[in-house]
Amino acid sequence: MGQYNGDPPVLLRMRGIVKRFPGVRALDGVDLDVRPGEVHCLLGQNGAGKSTLIKVLAGAHRPDEGEITFGGEPFAPATPTAAMRAGIATIYQELDLVDGLSVTDNVFLGHERSRLGFTRREEGDRRARELLARLGHGEIPPRREAGRLPAAGRQVVSMARALSHEARLIVMDEPSAALAHDEVDNLFRIIRELTREGVAVVYISHRLAEIREIGDRVTVLKDGRTVARDLPARTTPTNEIVALMTGRDIEHAFPDRPAPDAFDDRPEVLRVEGLTLPGSFEDVSFAVRAGEIVGLAGLVGSGRSEILETVYGARRATAGRVLIDGRPVRPGSPGAAVRRGMGLAPEERKSQALLLDQSVAANMSMAGLDRYSAFGWLNRRRERADVRAQIAALDIRPPDPDRPVATLSGGNQQKVVLARWLLGDRRLLVLDEPTRGVDVGARAELYGVVRELAARGIGVLLVSSEVPEVLGLADRVLVVREGRIVHEGDARGLDEPAVLNLIMEGSAL
Ligand SMILES: Nc1ncnc2c1ncn2[C@@H]1O[C@H](COP(=O)(O)OP(=O)(O)OP(=O)(O)O)[C@@H](O)[C@H]1O
Ligand SMILES: [Mg+2]
Repeated sequence: MGQYNGDPPVLLRMRGIVKRFPGVRALDGVDLDVRPGEVHCLLGQNGAGKSTLIKVLAGAHRPDEGEITFGGEPFAPATPTAAMRAGIATIYQELDLVDGLSVTDNVFLGHERSRLGFTRREEGDRRARELLARLGHGEIPPRREAGRLPAAGRQVVSMARALSHEARLIVMDEPSAALAHDEVDNLFRIIRELTREGVAVVYISHRLAEIREIGDRVTVLKDGRTVARDLPARTTPTNEIVALMTGRDIEHAFPDRPAPDAFDDRPEVLRVEGLTLPGSFEDVSFAVRAGEIVGLAGLVGSGRSEILETVYGARRATAGRVLIDGRPVRPGSPGAAVRRGMGLAPEERKSQALLLDQSVAANMSMAGLDRYSAFGWLNRRRERADVRAQIAALDIRPPDPDRPVATLSGGNQQKVVLARWLLGDRRLLVLDEPTRGVDVGARAELYGVVRELAARGIGVLLVSSEVPEVLGLADRVLVVREGRIVHEGDARGLDEPAVLNLIMEGSAL
């Protein structure tokens, strides 16, 4: 390899990048080379520094040390607008669209109006529609408020903005996390088109399968440093990548399971009877026994998430009922479900679950408050000890209970939400996509914690779009297709092809 065998010259070169926050060195000497037309994947555990690095590139953070060249020129953007105008566009983990503005206004945000060469609204809408159409989404209405689009649509608008700036480098921070399967396919199609035109893409994801599919080369970060550079994305063995990320080999991702008949004489903590929500699902019945982990598998739109949301009261069924410990729960009230011992980690954690400016400890102990108050006093000491134990169990980084949640990396924020429910005395845990955005090492830890809770007698109901996760963690699997349960059985009797076939065709292979 090298500059004499026809590799294109480096487009972006970062050397020795350091970024400090009070008490943390988020970046501690990062090197990165990106070439035109390649998809360069950035891998690393939660908190490794990936998002911080791209915020440096995007002009959102100023590095304390290090050198950057872009297109051969020194590059030190003072603001996000400056970075965008220089040709680097960023699609953030939390999309930075302005909700109250129209699609068109968001697409052309950051441009100097006078340079755009159009002043009329119709012309702006037309140009926006052109860009959206190039991305395969000409149907998005330019006048619609961005805040009213679904996640996939918002991402396309963010991408259209990148095109409007004729970006030569597009950075994507976990772009697939909020997308369904076919939306990810569309995203990959767009990426392939852009790279064919010579645009470089920096791609961040915790899903190795995606790296294999779309990536050309990989750079691995660990604790704010580059530990490996320019590995081939398709052929580098998984255990090598994981070992680089974590500093150890993860052999068994999933904990051992009890025997299939272990639950036969255990009481039912959850019973769902004939639950129906027209348009979503019909006549759904199942039970979760104490100590058992039950997984729901199905496509997005199959009704699996709606079933879960109805079980915990976020939606109200038109027929059927939900029972906890044999007693019906008041329908349509998550509060009632929580009071009866249900813990839930919803899919949209940012908006539904976290108080971002409050501390890790405050966010964690929210659900278990009654547990720490005796005679009206909070038992601070016990709370502290429990919070620390959870921080250690889930490897939350940095391990500081007083840090505001807003300053944690995306994956560590997820762990805080989960820890909250693991803290309270729960009868039943309802987990919706529990490992979204969580790195491979922490996933294994999380699986271990869930299994341990089950071993203590808690029932677990799990939804995940990653079939291997459902198969590896659950005792029993329910396959949902078009709003009905089409299969119910022991997880050990199923493999991924069989489940995918059930999900799509309604029959086993
Ligand atoms: N504004 C901030 N103030 C203080 N610390 C911060 C801030 N932003 C990030 N950090 C810290 O910097 C480190 C790197 O965080 P970063 O968000 O870059 O991780 P990441 O690799 O993107 O992780 P994830 O996979 O979880 O998204 C973490 O320890 C994080 O807590
Ligand atoms: Mg991140």
